[in-house]
Amino acid sequence: MAAKAWGGVFDEATDRRVEEFTESISFDRRLYKHDITGSIAHAQMLAKVGLISTDECQQIEQGLMEIRAEIEQGSFGFSIELEDIHMHIERALIERIGDTGRKLHTGRSRNDQVSTDLRLWVRESIDRLDDCLVDLQKAFFSRCDRDRDCILPGYTHMQRAQPLLAPHYWLAYCEKFDRDRDRLADARRRTNVLSLGAAALAGTSLPIDRNDVAQRLGFEAVAANSLDVSSDRDFVLEFAFTLTVIAEHLSTWAEEWIIWSTSEFNFIKIPQAFCTGSSIMPQKVNPDVLELIRGKTARVVGNLQTLLVLVKGLPLAYNRDLQEDKPPLFDSFDTVLASLQLASPLVAGTELNRPAIEERLDRGHLDATALMEYLIKRGIPQRTAHGMIGRLVRKAIDKDVRLADLPLSDFQEADAGLDETVYDVLGVQKAVEAMKSYGSTAPAEVDRQIASWKEKLNCSRIRKNSDDLV
Ligand code: ARG
Repeated sequence: MAAKAWGGVFDEATDRRVEEFTESISFDRRLYKHDITGSIAHAQMLAKVGLISTDECQQIEQGLMEIRAEIEQGSFGFSIELEDIHMHIERALIERIGDTGRKLHTGRSRNDQVSTDLRLWVRESIDRLDDCLVDLQKAFFSRCDRDRDCILPGYTHMQRAQPLLAPHYWLAYCEKFDRDRDRLADARRRTNVLSLGAAALAGTSLPIDRNDVAQRLGFEAVAANSLDVSSDRDFVLEFAFTLTVIAEHLSTWAEEWIIWSTSEFNFIKIPQAFCTGSSIMPQKVNPDVLELIRGKTARVVGNLQTLLVLVKGLPLAYNRDLQEDKPPLFDSFDTVLASLQLASPLVAGTELNRPAIEERLDRGHLDATALMEYLIKRGIPQRTAHGMIGRLVRKAIDKDVRLADLPLSDFQEADAGLDETVYDVLGVQKAVEAMKSYGSTAPAEVDRQIASWKEKLNCSRIRKNSDDLV
């Protein structure tokens, strides 16, 4: 059995059940790259300030690179006796290079080490997600040309409300995912801070150079208070929250398209490659991917809750509870990443069933609000106009016709001053064309949105130092 790195003060061996209960190697092994990157930067700094020699630093670097290769090849042995990824790598280094390996942990503790590893991992994950969000925005954007003239019924309360140009719909999702990108960028800023050098909680009496490590690791700042940073998991919470908002946005979209894919709606045809069948009903083609994107959102929401409760009431500074941050965080990331990776091809590959949509656009009096605004423009107070159109809609429902089919006499009965121009805003096409306001579904406004998104998506890849580092 391997002696514990912390075993000096202990007389008794650790109970096997305790090892099983306290280990984190089963899930934190995915931080191996980040741990090694952080350790190399730390060793280089130790050499720079003279705490180890250049030769020792080279041996450490070389050893760590070999360990990294071994882990990647799958030949590295993991065991719960060594608790976590930090202990595994350090032990392997000592086995490889001897006493020099025992110097790596100079001026640091696992508390600032795990925080650093996790910050590197979150930063890298933010960048990966950001790329996926851009891909999804591009998928929605790619539909704009294709569906430029298609009019869709817009809903509130899931009841037909007003007509919308299809690109207006697609770009609504681009906006939502853009706010998610913004949230990620914001969270990234607070994540991209060096914790290493905080040591256990109080800092160190050794002459370390934290700015040097920060620079090597691409961190934009050095945490100013060792006690704060060793207990800080805000960056984990923020990332988990942002992941939750992304999942919520995806689930709204998934829900909408599940409904749109029903025979009752029949608005879209999802590629069969993204559907699955039923084991008993031979005719079924089910939108299971969309359902699971919606369903997996529950896990992401639950993970955020887990993390919030985990840190609630934790006294400063490090407590072992914090080890429990990784499984929910990793799960949220994996879930949202997988959902995004499926969402993009699904959005791009789904066809609008235009004949079925157009055939029923006349239902639901989608032009009623345009007609009301026409009356307002003629000086009729909004509340009065609202009542008048309500009664006209009632009449159309009773006659089972569209508003545009009502004779002029019906309109004049509502208001004697009305003339033929009333028909200029009737029908979904005209109702859309009558729109004027900034951000509306007016064709000119939609074109403006398309142009601005085109520009934005052309130059949308931001920053990124994470790829070169880990
Ligand atoms: N596995 C631990 C974690 O994930 C590493 C830090 C352990 N620190 C300690 N003092 N026991 O939080």
